[in-house]
Amino acid sequence: MADTNMIVVTTQDSGILARFLTNPAASHPRRDRATSTTQPAHQRRPNKSPALRVRRHATLASLPSSSAAAAAMVSAEAGIDYVLWTEAEVSARVGDVAAELAADLRALPEPAVVVGVATGAFLFLADLVRRVDVQLAVDFVRVESYGAGTVSSGKPRITADLKVDVAGKHVVVVEDIVDTGNTLSCLIAHLEKKGASSISVCTFLDKPARRKVSLQLVGDGKFYRGFECPDYFVVGYGLDYAELYRNLPYVGVLKPEMYKKDSSN
Ligand code: PRP
Repeated sequence: MADTNMIVVTTQDSGILARFLTNPAASHPRRDRATSTTQPAHQRRPNKSPALRVRRHATLASLPSSSAAAAAMVSAEAGIDYVLWTEAEVSARVGDVAAELAADLRALPEPAVVVGVATGAFLFLADLVRRVDVQLAVDFVRVESYGAGTVSSGKPRITADLKVDVAGKHVVVVEDIVDTGNTLSCLIAHLEKKGASSISVCTFLDKPARRKVSLQLVGDGKFYRGFECPDYFVVGYGLDYAELYRNLPYVGVLKPEMYKKDSSN
């Protein structure tokens, strides 16, 4: 999960590029794992039926057609079908959530510990805390549902733990998305065991339709969310497909052809 790849395409690589764009699993072994039926639900193909508020994005770059053009760096938004929330909408909503969170944290007797869940929460966390004008501590954890194999254990585990001691502290867990709720459920239990006095959750996206476990917050903990997300395959603003697209400043829906071969099981 921690690996980051910069794809620099040469003319000789154009065949590999074409294969990656039609089937990322061919060039990225992690796809096999990430697209299994037990992968996080937000990474599966979208339900085709729900009515959505969608807007076509007029300025999306199309994929390069000639091999000369394919020699260029692949655009960050190649493979995006349309934008669900623009950069401006994301920014405005993050501001709203930050204001709500700041008001609550200001009322606490001591600084809270804001815990980002790597990797997906990195942008939301950074934008959020810069707008919370209250003293706070920041830390990260990593939670994984997959081991070395290709099948989810169904039991997420903490693979990188906190540096900050949260005993007796008010903790705000920051996520990019809550889907089944398994990751957060595991993390909340972990933080509670460490003695956190309250545990809140602040998630950029929430997909309640996918929830499999109900989240039990601790103490006076609150649930904050940016947007309720429709059941589509969304990427950007921290959310990935095959570890890519996290750097998009907006939330987009991935073109089905980017993943349909992998998700046909
Ligand atoms: C994503 C996301 C949440 C989790 C939500 O993480 O960042 O942590 O899935 O899914 P759940 O509610 O079904 O547990 P992922 O494992 O994809 O890792 P990432 O943050 O590195 O993208």
